[in-house]
Amino acid sequence: MNAIELLIQDHQLVKKLLEELSSTTERAVKKRAELLDRIKQEVSIHTALEEEILYPAIKQAGGKEEAKMYYEAKEEHRTVDSLVLPDLLHTETGTVEFAGRVKVMKELLEHHIEEEESELFPTARKLLGKQQLEELGQAMEVQKKLLKSEQRAA
Ligand SMILES: [Fe+2]
Ligand SMILES: [Fe+2]
Repeated sequence: MNAIELLIQDHQLVKKLLEELSSTTERAVKKRAELLDRIKQEVSIHTALEEEILYPAIKQAGGKEEAKMYYEAKEEHRTVDSLVLPDLLHTETGTVEFAGRVKVMKELLEHHIEEEESELFPTARKLLGKQQLEELGQAMEVQKKLLKSEQRAA
């Protein structure tokens, strides 16, 4: 699988989990916690793969425009990882507040995914070429396995 195919597959999974989470009600206390935890794990690995493997390659191969995209995408990651998700993890799952915060997180992530798939990934395809995308994809699969086993051990 090349790097972009792998990341798009992750996006589809995260979008599905977000749909599931936002369709739960206040009574689904345990299910909400489980889904949120799963989303947190998937997003954190995905973000690490992008920031450590794909984004630097785009920035290195590109110019000013690509650097701007790079910083914008990183900032969106930071918003979700350091603000929205930690807040949500401290919100009682059986409350309306939880549902409100899930809605915001879902919108942020969907917007971010949409921008990556419509801007960043096409740019990566142009700049990096088939061979490099394959190599980056292989590096991602290795790193993903490692991060997953770390999560399981935590
Ligand atoms: Fe991303
Ligand atoms: Fe992504």
